[in-house]
Amino acid sequence: MGLFTKKPIASLILDSSAGEKSLKRTLGAGNLIALGIGAIIGAGLFVRTAAAAANNAGPSVTIAFIVAAVGCAFAGLCYAEFASMIPIAGSAYTYSYATMGELVAWIIGWDLVLEYAVGAATVGIAWSEYLNKLLGIFHQRIPYQWCHSPFEICNLHDTSGMFSDEFGMHGMMNVPALFIIFMLTLLLIRGTKESAFVNGIIVISKVAIVIVFIILGWGYMSPANHVPYIPPASTFTDSYGVGHNYGGIWGILGAAGVVFFAFIGFDAVSTAAQEAKNPKKDMPIGILGSLVICTVLYILFAHVLTGVASVEDFRTAGKEGSVVFAIQHYMAGYGWLANLVTVAILFGFSSVILVMLMGQSRVFYSMSCDGLVPKTFSNLHPKFQTPYHSNWIFLMFVGGFAAFVPGDIVGDMTSIGTLFAFILVCAGVWILRITNPEIQRSFKVPFVPVVSILGILVCAAMIAGLGWTNWARLGGWLVIGLVIYFVYSRKHSKLRKL
Ligand code: ALA
Repeated sequence: MGLFTKKPIASLILDSSAGEKSLKRTLGAGNLIALGIGAIIGAGLFVRTAAAAANNAGPSVTIAFIVAAVGCAFAGLCYAEFASMIPIAGSAYTYSYATMGELVAWIIGWDLVLEYAVGAATVGIAWSEYLNKLLGIFHQRIPYQWCHSPFEICNLHDTSGMFSDEFGMHGMMNVPALFIIFMLTLLLIRGTKESAFVNGIIVISKVAIVIVFIILGWGYMSPANHVPYIPPASTFTDSYGVGHNYGGIWGILGAAGVVFFAFIGFDAVSTAAQEAKNPKKDMPIGILGSLVICTVLYILFAHVLTGVASVEDFRTAGKEGSVVFAIQHYMAGYGWLANLVTVAILFGFSSVILVMLMGQSRVFYSMSCDGLVPKTFSNLHPKFQTPYHSNWIFLMFVGGFAAFVPGDIVGDMTSIGTLFAFILVCAGVWILRITNPEIQRSFKVPFVPVVSILGILVCAAMIAGLGWTNWARLGGWLVIGLVIYFVYSRKHSKLRKL
């Protein structure tokens, strides 16, 4: 059997309903939408929006949100078709094993580590930023070196006001980011049902603060901050010395790649297909429903945020904890809102990390069942039925990134890795329509291949906008993955032994 050996779809569907190792089916459509929103609204909105405005697009970050949403909608439709057809854990990995063969499946599974594990680290780092805002309420803070990576130096651009007396100091380790990843790993090991309940409460408060900020902030927008709405094309060099296209079309595309992070997660719903009560109906509703709700909220939120505070703020004092900064400095009398937002954001980020860690362990669960990664990744806890070995191993990996790598870098790595996976999923739906038209699909993407092609083009444009440093990181990650595939996975693949 060759590199392009495909896993038979019939056996995938059989796997999803049988076997000692099957996961418990506890989630309905409402749970899935909540799971989606829980994964979607997070650091992308509350941290990356300001970064994209500062480095790439200014107020036109709202247009960037539209570009990113369009790419996600196309890819989301493709995800929904796959999820309704192959209702089994594993996300894009599983789908591509059935359509494009083992090598491509491996590449996607490996690439999804960027999306879920590195993504969880990004949100952990953002959590650490807002934890300092929380401590600020009590006039406390964590010293700069213990809440930043060794690659960060407290300089004029990095100072958020909080650290101005620590100018020139190097970060050592992001302890709060590591702490939150550890706590959520423990919660995850206790099981999806409990996690979904906690998640439900958090989702409600997260959506509530987004809506409250939009309504109250609307009156505090200063028209001057929105002029020019699309800055003229130039370049901006950030505090790490990395140049970004600022303004114009490339600025918007770069910003779209950055804020694309804010949409990541709706596809994590598809990783829970094996735990859905009625996957064929519930998966498309869960995926597309959560995407639509979030898109509307994001565009309004970004418009208000860039209207309340200026781009210059987001480059200097408002760089960390940007939303709370904007409220504290420009919305007099709303100190209570700043405090409420801080608390809700801390819980909100926790729910995102939880879903991402869960998605990661589920992908490796599937890969382990297929023999592509060691068996330990599919060992279930005797009592909680969760892949607890996998959770512990990823705690070390995710914790390492969270503690020692800057948030901007892990954030962009997450975006580019996910965009790449989306491209392969868009292609996969198209391929499967040609190779297996007979398979029943309870949800069908309209206008294939047009939707697939548009999805590929929009995602590729965002990858282009993210710039060569990110292309190099993605390339490096994929090379490591290929080495592992040829040294280990190819020899242990169960499909090849059939
Ligand atoms: N979409 C998630 C977030 O913004 C990953 O935090």
